[in-house]
Amino acid sequence: MGTRGLVDGAVLLLGGRSEIGLEVARRLAPGRVVILGARRSDELAEQCAEIAAAGASAVHTIEFDADDSASHPALLEKVAAEHGRIGIAVLAFGVLGDQRRAEKDPAHATAILHTDFVAQASVLTVLANLLRTQGEGQLVVFSSVAGVRVRRANYVYGSAKAGLDGFVSGLADALHGSGVRLLLVRPGFVIGRMTEGMSPAPFSSTPGQVADAVVKGLRRGAGRVWVPRILQPVFFAMRLLPRPIWRRMPR
Ligand SMILES: NC(=O)c1ccc[n+]([C@@H]2O[C@H](COP(=O)([O-])OP(=O)(O)OC[C@H]3O[C@@H](n4cnc5c(N)ncnc54)[C@H](OP(=O)(O)O)[C@@H]3O)[C@@H](O)[C@H]2O)c1
Repeated sequence: MGTRGLVDGAVLLLGGRSEIGLEVARRLAPGRVVILGARRSDELAEQCAEIAAAGASAVHTIEFDADDSASHPALLEKVAAEHGRIGIAVLAFGVLGDQRRAEKDPAHATAILHTDFVAQASVLTVLANLLRTQGEGQLVVFSSVAGVRVRRANYVYGSAKAGLDGFVSGLADALHGSGVRLLLVRPGFVIGRMTEGMSPAPFSSTPGQVADAVVKGLRRGAGRVWVPRILQPVFFAMRLLPRPIWRRMPR
């Protein structure tokens, strides 16, 4: 265990252009090697400069396509071999998708489920085993309140998050006692690129606020954090709403 609850070693950010992911990486960067994994990894100069300016000892990039599950084991083993131990891995890739299109087009519906659930499960399985072999490590995964009780208005994205949330809860229990810790983050509406053009839902947050909560959660060894915290009791109540009301809820 390294400084103040954070495991020593490289920080791996999968979704190297994610607004929330980069905010987390900036906060974890001082003195560490940071690896940004993204598609078009030759176009990450801006992100590398941002992380270097935040104090990283080195910043590396790797080509990472979440949808290419078959590539994950070799890719992640190569990262560990080339850049040493992974201390903290952050899975920040994801798509919101187009709900209206997904209701008509099965290929779009399954593409959302693939990136937001299947690909996450693939990466998590590989990383969990890698970190287990190391004997310690921290994993950060982004669920969403959209998956806590799935809404008619975004049931495709919401169901992917519901699946992911369940997968991660089980995996966290499987990792109990292994030295590997998994932080499940449940943000509400985050004002940023993914939600551009939408009017913010109640209890919205910014990528910076989500990142603050993530780092705080990592430091105290939390298993899950809601951002903002009020969403936990709010969604406890939301679960009790009758379906005729629930089905009219906006996204
Ligand atoms: N924003 C919100 O309101 C909100 C709320 C709750 C939870 N979350 C979750 O928080 C996480 C981070 O979201 P964010 O707001 O930071 O989103 P973001 O800024 O839109 O970043 C998402 C990143 O995922 C990457 N990505 C998508 N498909 C990929 C693939 N097949 N392979 C590799 N990378 C891929 C994109 O890469 P490219 O640059 O290549 O397109 C993009 O940079 C996501 O899991 C999201 O679902 C977000």
